Amino acid sequence: MASLDSIRQSIHESDADVGGDDAEIIPADADVEDVCDEEVDTVRSLIEPFPDDKEGVIPALQEVQGEYGYLPRFSMQLIADKAGTSMAHVYGTASFYSQFYLEPRGEHTIKVCTGTACHVKGADEISEEFCDELDVELEEVTDDGQFTVSHVRCIGACSLAPAVMVGDNVHGNVTEEKVPDVIEEYRGDDA
Ligand code: FES
Repeated sequence: MASLDSIRQSIHESDADVGGDDAEIIPADADVEDVCDEEVDTVRSLIEPFPDDKEGVIPALQEVQGEYGYLPRFSMQLIADKAGTSMAHVYGTASFYSQFYLEPRGEHTIKVCTGTACHVKGADEISEEFCDELDVELEEVTDDGQFTVSHVRCIGACSLAPAVMVGDNVHGNVTEEKVPDVIEEYRGDDA
């Protein structure tokens, strides 16, 4: 296992690697030196079971996201270090798959379906209504940390279009008038 100092060193080298043309691709989350040793140990123990090569990157990302709800920057470097690959590779993998989040999320993600059936039934207006009601932009977290509004392609409920998914729950035939009720259903619910 690499020392903390060597990880810090490699993070800065990675920064140099992805500087220049792609300088903006690294998210502005905490570096390893910004977090306590316990946090580093937590991530290390989460990713420990996975292979020490590129095969281990995706399951490690999934495990960390399961714990944190998103992928803090320092965790991606720890994953890169363990897998013997670069931060740019791990970041590229995480940003390629829509299942991964590079920024903190609200406790509840309201996923507004923008697939074809939902689109023609007013998904854009529904999405705007959720954002207006919560006073956020798409993909932002509300001030109380409870909600994020995002878009997904077809969630398999086309006959209920326009459809919205919150957690494992599908809300069908959503109208702008129903938006506040959907929000209230989850507000204050930490489950
Ligand atoms: S297009 Fe929205 S559920 Fe299929």
